[in-house]
Amino acid sequence: MKKRSLRELPPAALDGKRALVRVDFNVPFKDGAVTDDTRIRAAVPTIAYLREKGARVVLLSHFGRPKGPDPKASLNQIVRDVERILGTPVEFIADPAIGVATSRRLPRGGVALVENTRFWPGEEANDPGFAQTLAALGDFYVNDAFGSAHRAHASTEAVARLLRPAVTGFLMEKELRYLGEALDQPRRPFVAVLGGAKISGKIDVIQALLPKVDEILVGGAMANTFFLAIGFQVGGSLVERDKEDLAKGLLAKAGAKLILPRGAVVAPSLARAAERQEVSSDHIPADCAVFDIDRPTRLDFRARILKAKTIFWNGPMGVFETPPFDEGTRAVGEALIEAGKRGATTVVGGGDSAAAVAGLEDKLSHVSTGGGASLEFLEGKPLPGVAALEDA
Ligand code: 3PG
Repeated sequence: MKKRSLRELPPAALDGKRALVRVDFNVPFKDGAVTDDTRIRAAVPTIAYLREKGARVVLLSHFGRPKGPDPKASLNQIVRDVERILGTPVEFIADPAIGVATSRRLPRGGVALVENTRFWPGEEANDPGFAQTLAALGDFYVNDAFGSAHRAHASTEAVARLLRPAVTGFLMEKELRYLGEALDQPRRPFVAVLGGAKISGKIDVIQALLPKVDEILVGGAMANTFFLAIGFQVGGSLVERDKEDLAKGLLAKAGAKLILPRGAVVAPSLARAAERQEVSSDHIPADCAVFDIDRPTRLDFRARILKAKTIFWNGPMGVFETPPFDEGTRAVGEALIEAGKRGATTVVGGGDSAAAVAGLEDKLSHVSTGGGASLEFLEGKPLPGVAALEDA
């Protein structure tokens, strides 16, 4: 169901009005600094548009998974980053229950950021009372937090039912369009590349994608569980032994569509990278573990990716945060960029795979800001943060 967009609100609905905007500023943060500000930058088009139209902008977000108020999870710590990226001062509202006056005092085009919504138990409980407190901070609601849309929380779900108009922001729209179109009307061949550590988190995605894709290329530790199902030894590799039967079932169902790595880069441990070697998938030594896909697999995956017209990628091919085991993941990223140059639509899911292509976003059709949300969307599950918005 198409949702009403911010773009459809007339100027009079914006000018001088308080826009309550749910963003996903749950950014990676280390030693007091934001280490990747992609999610803040991704919210700029919506915020800039609202400011230009004379709205007063009140931003809501969660940050981490605090169990209650916790200075280490305060959004106050990222106010300077938001100011730098927006190029305007940002007022901080430390408590939504006493923030109404601040929201009304904001000048046209002014911006305020509310403290981490997860400091209040009503947030995760999707409590209507807490949603009412949040709703009092705005005259209308915009949800631009695709990354949080799979959570039915007060700031994503209940508030949208209380405060109308309740519309999608530009980032939300873009995410739904790219992920939705990749699934519903893919230009073929449609190839999905799935990696990451666990098969268990991706079963539903594999099942949902199988009938729609022409091929699924599997890498990462997830491939080890499939190796086990085929009868290959995996040595000391990360593997889900209890998912062997499940992997067998998926292999039977997928037939020729599921493409496993031909070989692997193995080593005795991550720290002993100098002793790494390439082996074929049916010859993984007992005293080694798989840390990446090997060169023949990279070439095979590249050739398949270059033939595709739509490519969706989620999850690294190896331990990409520990070079030299990042080479397989980088090779997939490069193949996507090459395919894009040849006219393919290239969509990258959030989380680790987004980190692997950091800085290359403009060479891809779309890099999702949602990790869990993009997977749930691809699985075909309804996203509560989207469902609660007004229909177009
Ligand atoms: C994310 O980082 O995937 C979103 O911000 C959701 O965070 P959560 O998994 O803590 O709900």
